[in-house]
Amino acid sequence: MAPTIPATNTRVLRVKNVAGLHAVNESYFSIEQTPKPEVHDGEILVRSLYIGLDPCPLDQAVKEPLRGFGVGEVVETKHTQFQVGDIVSGPSLTWDAYSLQKEPAKTLFIVPNARQLAEQNKVPLSAYLGILGMPGLTAWQSFQLYGDLKAGQTIFVSSAAGGVGQTAVQYAKLKGLKVIGSAGSDDKVEYLKKTLGIDHAINYKTQDVKAEIQRLVPEGLDLYFDVVGQESLDIALETTKRFGRIITIGTVSNMNHDGGSPQTPYVHKNLHLIYVKELRIHGLSAFNHFGVFPAFWTETQSQFAAGLLQATEVVEDGLVNVPKTFAKILDGSYRGKVVIKVADL
Ligand SMILES: NC(=O)c1ccc[n+]([C@@H]2O[C@H](COP(=O)([O-])OP(=O)(O)OC[C@H]3O[C@@H](n4cnc5c(N)ncnc54)[C@H](OP(=O)(O)O)[C@@H]3O)[C@@H](O)[C@H]2O)c1
Repeated sequence: MAPTIPATNTRVLRVKNVAGLHAVNESYFSIEQTPKPEVHDGEILVRSLYIGLDPCPLDQAVKEPLRGFGVGEVVETKHTQFQVGDIVSGPSLTWDAYSLQKEPAKTLFIVPNARQLAEQNKVPLSAYLGILGMPGLTAWQSFQLYGDLKAGQTIFVSSAAGGVGQTAVQYAKLKGLKVIGSAGSDDKVEYLKKTLGIDHAINYKTQDVKAEIQRLVPEGLDLYFDVVGQESLDIALETTKRFGRIITIGTVSNMNHDGGSPQTPYVHKNLHLIYVKELRIHGLSAFNHFGVFPAFWTETQSQFAAGLLQATEVVEDGLVNVPKTFAKILDGSYRGKVVIKVADL
């Protein structure tokens, strides 16, 4: 039986402009009660189950509902493509207990088999925000288009214990690559080696990443998957072999509020190596590739259910915990994908 929809809705709002994601603290948010949204023709109402906290720009205006990737259940529908009970995911779910979706067909995907796989304890719904969600799709699609992954090759992944990084190392391991990654603590290094089974892990805060890669792979890397940017991209240019590939998907070390662009300018020191070594460099923005979600899920849901992929998550309970959790997302406290559980299925 569909749950009763309460007359009031809990909502997380941003109340101040953000001068860079590294500066966000709890005082940037407020939690308010609003009336239950009215659903009009073409719209649906989604009961939030999980929302993902991504280090992405909070680019909605102050006091506008914040949006991001979430997973929810359709509880009211005036749209022919959506039925009550569908499990949906997409970038337009607001940080509300009940999220009104005005153009659901443009921004939400019905996740096939999600309810059954969750009820059978084969794939938790939170996984659609991490390894089976936007972070996973970022790594998966980057590899599909630009990875040219071949068993026996060597890949380096920066920020390997993070939301995108942990998926990149797992897909690369599944393809039979030798995987090296970096992270910001010994605890994360142990997790990468023992839990995710990567071949070598480097603590970038206490070790010299470039020297370590050169020691471990004197012939040079086949592929460098970069989440961090700046000095990390300099190291990529230095440590990839001739004809090597670099995939760049983030600049987590230096994030602005307006699109993830670097907050302070950075001058790359060795761009000549692109032509000297005839490197291939590709960027990818997942936001241009959401159409591949169905194909991505077809492959990865069964891999997950078979135990070939795993989700490392930090799950905090309740919208009330969004402000304190978001404020810590970039400081390295968390390992893996950070999600807020809003309600039970
Ligand atoms: N191109 C795309 O489509 C796309 C898609 C998703 C994400 N992204 C971008 O990718 C980046 C990571 O996203 P995510 O979801 O994987 O995030 P995440 O796991 O939540 O990233 C947070 C982690 O980044 C690391 N970090 C923070 N500051 C750092 C610094 N100065 N140097 C190196 N590492 C630092 C920390 O781990 P340590 O403790 O290891 O330092 C922290 O735990 C972000 O910039 C995001 O915007 C891009």
